[in-house]
Amino acid sequence: MNHLIGLLLGTENDWPTAFEGLLRRVGPVADANGEEHTFDVERVTIEPFDLRSKPRYDLVIDRLAYWYYHPREWLKKAALMDDLYLLNSPFTFQSMEKHAAYCAMMRLGLHVPNTVLVPYKNPPDHAKYAYTAERYNRSFDLDAVAEHVGYPLFMKPYDGGAWVGVSRIKDSRDLHRAYDESGQRLMHLQKAVDGYDVFARSLSIGAETMVMNFDPDQPMHARYSVSHDFLTPEVGDETVTIGRLVNAFFRWEFNSCETLIKDGVVHPIDYANACPDVAITSLHYYFPWAMKALVKWTVFCTVTGRKPRYDLDTRRYFDVAEREDLSYAEKIAAYRALADDYFETERYADFCAGRLSHFDEVALEWFEGPEFDRLLVDTVRETFPAHEHDHFIAHYRGLLAAWCKDQR
Ligand SMILES: Nc1ncnc2c1ncn2[C@@H]1O[C@H](COP(=O)(O)OP(=O)(O)OP(=O)(O)O)[C@@H](O)[C@H]1O
Ligand SMILES: [Mg+2]
Repeated sequence: MNHLIGLLLGTENDWPTAFEGLLRRVGPVADANGEEHTFDVERVTIEPFDLRSKPRYDLVIDRLAYWYYHPREWLKKAALMDDLYLLNSPFTFQSMEKHAAYCAMMRLGLHVPNTVLVPYKNPPDHAKYAYTAERYNRSFDLDAVAEHVGYPLFMKPYDGGAWVGVSRIKDSRDLHRAYDESGQRLMHLQKAVDGYDVFARSLSIGAETMVMNFDPDQPMHARYSVSHDFLTPEVGDETVTIGRLVNAFFRWEFNSCETLIKDGVVHPIDYANACPDVAITSLHYYFPWAMKALVKWTVFCTVTGRKPRYDLDTRRYFDVAEREDLSYAEKIAAYRALADDYFETERYADFCAGRLSHFDEVALEWFEGPEFDRLLVDTVRETFPAHEHDHFIAHYRGLLAAWCKDQR
């Protein structure tokens, strides 16, 4: 059986080229009955579609529908009518902002910093606004709200990304300036986790999670550092659980999660990325891991016929949260079991060990070979100014060679 995988893309070319190169080399893969599965991949084009037409794809990795609505509606149609498997489903976009995830994770007892949502500074463009606001908007004291949260705090969009509109607020002057500038953007005030020990950013793809040591103050190419034992085993495990939990809870399969760790306490501050960063130039050493995980998860879902599930069974998680006989650590373990159940983590690991045992070597050869090197060089040329090309080509080649060497 042949499976066609679709990539719904905006401007990216680096990881899709790697994904295509790897996926074309992965097959054939035998299923439990000995039937062979092969894979092909195409980039999805945007065109009129009949709501009753059958999609040619078995699974689509979407990087576009969070802002482009025609393909978003195509994804919804294909999910509802044809069981198309999606990473990620647009049905989850309503909660694809920080706000919903903060709420859910607070209710589950995680250490999300105190957070308040304040009304718009400038009114939304709507004919009914003036009347509604006059009747129902209650005036509020921004300083009192900030004092309730406590300084220093962060003001940031409830749905933000890429640091747009994020500011660190130390006093009332900063507060009013930032609020005045927020305009029509809806803002959270969130207590800062100050003087944290580690910023851990984890990327989850299906049943796999990579927790990476992150420094937001560095330029893009140097934010992730290659370090392996920067968390204690317990904190590392908790961080993996939080990333996987929030994904299982909201049915996200390809997402990143940011946590700040201070004195052994893990504070989640950011998740819900419809389109998490997987650029070679930011992930560098971890890029091959991400591409392999994406290929393996794609193969696992299609070969085992994993069915997409859009219904959220939040009650199972809340039942754990409400149990008074469980400690925090026991709740984390229970959430992990629910998340691993949703992602079929054990079955996935067995599948990879049994049916994809050849893939590590195939992928390693590809990352050591000329095709990947060309992609790396082209990506650096497209990303950095000319006078930095030589420097960055050597820099990334070094990091990727280190990954290959570690694998060998
Ligand atoms: N509560 C907090 N305590 C300490 N630092 C914070 C807090 N909230 C945000 N920050 C800092 O501000 C940065 C941006 O905030 P956040 O990640 O929430 O916004 P974002 O727009 O999603 O950014 P990105 O897309 O880069 O992840 C974080 O990476 C972190 O360095
Ligand atoms: Mg962030």
